[in-house]
Amino acid sequence: MDKLAIQGGARLRGEIRISGAKNAALPILCAGLLTAETLRLENLPKLKDISTSLTLLGHIGMQVELDDKNSVDLQAAHLDKLEAPYELVKTMRASILVLGPILARYGEARVSLPGGCAIGSRPVDLHIKGLQAMGAEIHIEHGYIHAKATRLQGARIFMDTVTVTGTENLMMAATLANGATVLENAAREPEVFDLAQCLIAMGAKIEGAGSDTITITGVETLHGATHKIMADRIETGTYLVAAAMTQGQVRLLGTRADTLDAVLEKLREAGAQIDVESDSISLRMQRRPRAVSIKTAPYPAFPTDMQAQFMALNCIADGVSRVTETIFENRFMHVQEMQRLGADIEVEGNTALVRGVDKLEGAVVMATDLRASASLVLAALVAEGETVIERIYHIDRGYECIEEKFSQLGARIRRVH
Ligand code: EPZ
Repeated sequence: MDKLAIQGGARLRGEIRISGAKNAALPILCAGLLTAETLRLENLPKLKDISTSLTLLGHIGMQVELDDKNSVDLQAAHLDKLEAPYELVKTMRASILVLGPILARYGEARVSLPGGCAIGSRPVDLHIKGLQAMGAEIHIEHGYIHAKATRLQGARIFMDTVTVTGTENLMMAATLANGATVLENAAREPEVFDLAQCLIAMGAKIEGAGSDTITITGVETLHGATHKIMADRIETGTYLVAAAMTQGQVRLLGTRADTLDAVLEKLREAGAQIDVESDSISLRMQRRPRAVSIKTAPYPAFPTDMQAQFMALNCIADGVSRVTETIFENRFMHVQEMQRLGADIEVEGNTALVRGVDKLEGAVVMATDLRASASLVLAALVAEGETVIERIYHIDRGYECIEEKFSQLGARIRRVH
């Protein structure tokens, strides 16, 4: 199994290009199921989760034509299997996003329940409740969701917890429903907004995406379109934190600062100098970072997908900080691995108290989930000596060409087979 070997100590310098967003691409690929015409997607990231998604869509019967310029043509003229099997769903929870589109277009779907995950129980009850509110008959059998509806009906749906993929699944389903659907307490994440932009380009009637109330007026059919996937704000944030931790100077191209307010504010608080242009962000750090306390919450608050990276920064920062995780109940798996590198962290409930140390020391550590593994790469970049990170398949799920990009910025990093 591949590992990453990282020699710490290099200050990151230079420019890299940011890839398309994994968490926008995954639902948008599923939007291709809503029309018989061609949906062309550009700026598609080359990631393990994207290939898993394309395999699933191909299994269902979608024509998939991928070119070497990060674009794909999708055509779901006719689907021969209205199901997402456990074998594919178990490797990627976001497979649940085929449920709404298949049910809305074909009136029937059979999708494996995603099951548990390293960072939390992650139920999909709100996806199911929302579809039931739109008139679907749903029962769970042998670990599968069986859903049926002659035609979904518009409904007012209040989600008592903000859910990103729940909002996306219901928004996609509502585009072909009879009448208007109102999603209350909807997720406001930029990826939800990007999906809405793509659906509107396909002829959907959607208002309020990006706010906590989204209104979708159903239409008979959707047509083909071309859509460019937004930049990955979490990949952007990860490289910015890496630059801050190594007291470096970097410029990230093809990205947007307006999706990262909470993250940039915390980086400035840590002492970073940040310059923003229309499609690039530059960061310069000329001192040891100051410790910054963070508390995760739904957008536009501080993203949970940046929590582990900021914990790594606080491990070597000047001072004491509190890191509070409010979204997932088990998202501190990186703590024990960072302690192996010499970090001083105490966890109590959903809060970690981090005392910055002068230095970390290289060791062998293990990746447990996508963002935890990214935080271990960051810690390794500043640790003395060599760090070896095992189980890096987690990283390949969400970071395109990570060792090439870090090498481009001067890091000493290599993949060990
Ligand atoms: C999305 O997951 C992202 N994944 C996650 O990114 C991200 O961490 C998360 O949103 C929060 O921002 C994708 O977009 C593919 P949720 P999602 O439903 O939609 C509870 C990464 O690192 N909940 O917003 O699955 C749930 O348990 C990944 O790229 C219910 O109770 O997350 C959690 O506590 C990790 N019932 C909270 O809501 C439901 O039906 C938020 O989860 C649905 C969710």
